[in-house]
Amino acid sequence: MSVLAIDAGTTGVTAVVVTPDGSIAAKGYQEFAQHFPQPGWVEHSAEEIWQATIEATRQVLKLHDPKDLKAIGITNQRETIVLWDRETLGSPRRAIVWQDRRTADICERLRTAGHEERVSQLTGLRLDPYFSGTKLTWLRENEPHTWALVEQGRYAVGTVDSYLIARMTRGTWHVTDVSNASRTLLFDLEKGDWSDELCGLFGVPRDALPDLVPNWGEIGTTDPKTFCGLELPIAGIAGDQQSALFGQTCFEPGDSKCTYGTGSFLLTNTGSTVERSQAGLLSTAAWRSPSGETTYALEGAIFVTGAAVQWLRDGLQIVGTASETAAIAGAVPSSEGVVFVPALTGLGAPHWDPHARGSIFGITRGTTRGHLVRATLEAIAFEVRDVLETMPQLASLRVDGGAAANDLLCQVQADQVGVPVERPKIVETTALGAAFLAGLGTGVWDSTDALRETWQLEHRFEPGERDEKAYARWREAVERSKGWALL
Ligand code: G3P
Repeated sequence: MSVLAIDAGTTGVTAVVVTPDGSIAAKGYQEFAQHFPQPGWVEHSAEEIWQATIEATRQVLKLHDPKDLKAIGITNQRETIVLWDRETLGSPRRAIVWQDRRTADICERLRTAGHEERVSQLTGLRLDPYFSGTKLTWLRENEPHTWALVEQGRYAVGTVDSYLIARMTRGTWHVTDVSNASRTLLFDLEKGDWSDELCGLFGVPRDALPDLVPNWGEIGTTDPKTFCGLELPIAGIAGDQQSALFGQTCFEPGDSKCTYGTGSFLLTNTGSTVERSQAGLLSTAAWRSPSGETTYALEGAIFVTGAAVQWLRDGLQIVGTASETAAIAGAVPSSEGVVFVPALTGLGAPHWDPHARGSIFGITRGTTRGHLVRATLEAIAFEVRDVLETMPQLASLRVDGGAAANDLLCQVQADQVGVPVERPKIVETTALGAAFLAGLGTGVWDSTDALRETWQLEHRFEPGERDEKAYARWREAVERSKGWALL
């Protein structure tokens, strides 16, 4: 029997059916609106995420017999924070998205008060608006009427996985997993549980948070009346980047992958130890088995990569679709000195500057959209190289996500990082990971070895010449983009 996976990402929800041989039998997709109420703010309507989930699932059910489905796995954009009414399941306000920078001042205040070291020690993260904790502090300080109902227990707090599970089970379950919890700034990474100390620091009542469950194994059952007529065990959950790590079958310490989605996220499995980086990488939980063993990862989180291509499409309107960027960029031999730093929501790893903003350098009268599109793809590769420079040398880099389908990007990436880039047959690895978790939890696959056997290489991009001059220009451009929002 097959598994249904829901990938509730930043720009849309994908539903796929994964068969026991690890291939995708059906796919549905529904985009939802992005709200930018102020510069640097990003919000989503939780109701719209739910409706997109239903729509993507309906599309899949038109293509695949629901009787063949054994279980459902859920994966999600991480850190984004949702509030909902425990009775009605309606949300009193829009979700505050991981990309939202509104809490830069709160982070600064906590840093000035001397909290950063302790917060990093407990969570493996840093004081950056990216994570959920300060988003909740902001709500407490700026929307006291809403917050009062959080404190009274009427509103639940959670990440998107939690919210979707609550909706799918008609409010029966309020749960999450360690991969999502470890991105909130409220989770003690070594202890593997919510931290009272951190809840106190960020002003979040612990009772408002979800219960922690293992990443695979039966968690609850979907309610057919609310969820497309399906009565299925929810048997896998993970934040999208950890899910992609699982989907790429990176089960051993040292196994690494890079997912190109809205942002790009490089994760390396570090086994049962929490490894710490001095160079801007995050320590995070990857997954926890039903018997309680936790696997950890080191992560380089880059905020804007695919979103830069989306901006070329929707903001500048100089490309019609993301997939045509390879041809447009390939039509010019180089970017001719044009450098685009897509710090559209600040900079994440390894720079961590919430005040950085996007910038384009080196434009001349001869600059065309080809140069700008090429500079965008190069920027993605440079951003990933910036992160890889802080890690021990890899033998190869496994890639996935939508933009991994772009041959030009994969080749520039291999050239820049100087190691082969390996693209698997299935680049929908985020959804695949959620399916693997749910299938492992319900016996569709009996072991991680069985999952490993499904992984198939589609193309290996060998590294060519490294353009070091271009990379030096990039580094300079990044420096000049830092702190821009403060000017
Ligand atoms: O941490 C943010 C990440 O989970 C978002 O992933 O795939 O929506 O870009 P994605």
